[in-house]
Amino acid sequence: MTTAEEIDIYSDYPDDVVVSAENVYKIYKTNELETVALSGVSLQILEGKIMCVVGPSGSGKTTLTNIIGGITKATVGKVYWANLRKDITKIPERVLTEARRSFIGFVFQVNNLLPHLNAWQNVELAARIAGVPKKVRTDRVNRLIKLVGLEERKRNKATTLSGGERSRVAIASALVNLIDTEGKGLVLCDEPTGDLDPETAQRILELFKELNDTLGTSFFIVTHSQQVASMADITVEIRDGIVSGFHRMGIDLDTLGATRVVRLDNNYRLPMPTDLLELAGNPSQFRISFEDDRFILVPHKEDMSDTMRVKKVITCRVCGEEIPQGKFICPNCGSTV
Ligand SMILES: Nc1ncnc2c1ncn2[C@@H]1O[C@H](COP(=O)(O)OP(=O)(O)OP(=O)(O)O)[C@@H](O)[C@H]1O
Ligand SMILES: [Mg+2]
Repeated sequence: MTTAEEIDIYSDYPDDVVVSAENVYKIYKTNELETVALSGVSLQILEGKIMCVVGPSGSGKTTLTNIIGGITKATVGKVYWANLRKDITKIPERVLTEARRSFIGFVFQVNNLLPHLNAWQNVELAARIAGVPKKVRTDRVNRLIKLVGLEERKRNKATTLSGGERSRVAIASALVNLIDTEGKGLVLCDEPTGDLDPETAQRILELFKELNDTLGTSFFIVTHSQQVASMADITVEIRDGIVSGFHRMGIDLDTLGATRVVRLDNNYRLPMPTDLLELAGNPSQFRISFEDDRFILVPHKEDMSDTMRVKKVITCRVCGEEIPQGKFICPNCGSTV
C-alpha cells in the first residue's frame, strides 16, 4: 500500500529545473544566540541559465549558496536536486556527498590551492578528491586545463600564478566532475571575481559564459559586481533573508528599481522595496486598489487611532519578543536583530 509519504512528489518535476529551494528557513544557533539568516526563500535554478544573487552584507547570500549546495542544512524547507529527483534535506550525508560530486562544483572567493603543487597538479588533486576514476583522470585534467586556458602555465607552482590564473585553477577544479554531466551540472560561486582586476574578471566571466554555452552548465553566482550581474539571465535580490526582487537581463545595480519585479510569496505577502518606502517618507499604511491593469498603493495618512492602533516596534523574528529601541539582541531568546 502506498502511504502519502511514499508518493514521490518530485517524479513529475519539470526537466529543466536543476535545483529548487522551497520555503527555506535557516536559523543559526550558537550558544544562547540565534540568528535568522533566511526567512522563507523560494527559487528555482533553471538548466543552462546564469542566476546572480545580490544583496547587502549579512542578507543571507552565502547561507543560501551553501544550502543549495547541500553543505549547510536548511532549518525548515525543501531543497530539490535534479540528479536525485529528491529533497536533499531528508537524505543521509553519505548519499549527499556522493551525489554532489557529479552535480555541483564550488568556486570560493578564497581558492584553496596547495602552494607547493603546480596548476595541473592542483586540478588533478581536486579530481582525485572528487573521486574521478584513475583511468580517465589525466585526460580530464588535460581537457580542463585547456578549457580554462592554462596550457602555458600548467607547470607553474600555485604561488607563482596570478590572481586570475589561480581563479582559473579553482574553476577547473570545480568542474572535474561536471564536465561530463551533459548539462545538469551547477557551479556555485561566492564572489568569484571579488579579488580580481576588471580585465581578469572579464576573462573569467567569458570563461563562465563559454562553459555555459558549450556544456550547458548552470551558474549561481553571489556578487556585488555590476560586471558579473550584467551577464546573468536572471538576478535575485536578497534582503534580510527574503527574496526581495527579481531582475531579468540588463540590470543596473545602482538603479535596481528600474528593472525590479516583486513576487508574492506562498502566503500572499509582497516584499516592499525599502528604497521606495524611503522615497515616500516611510509610510506604514496604504489604501490599495486595482485600476486599468495597475495596483495602486496610496499612503494612508488618516489617523485611525480612535479605532485601531498598532504599536510601532521591532520584534524578534525568532520568538516575536519586542526589541527595545537601540538594542540589537532579543532580550528573550538572545537572537541578533
Ligand atoms: N555559521 C554561522 N553561525 C551563526 N551565524 C551565522 C553563520 N553564518 C552566517 N551567520 C549569520 O547569518 C546572517 C547571514 O549571513 P551570510 O553569510 O549568509 O550573509 P551574506 O549575505 O553572505 O553576507 P556577505 O555579503 O557579508 O558575505 C548574518 O547575520 C550572519 O552573521
Ligand atoms: Mg557572503
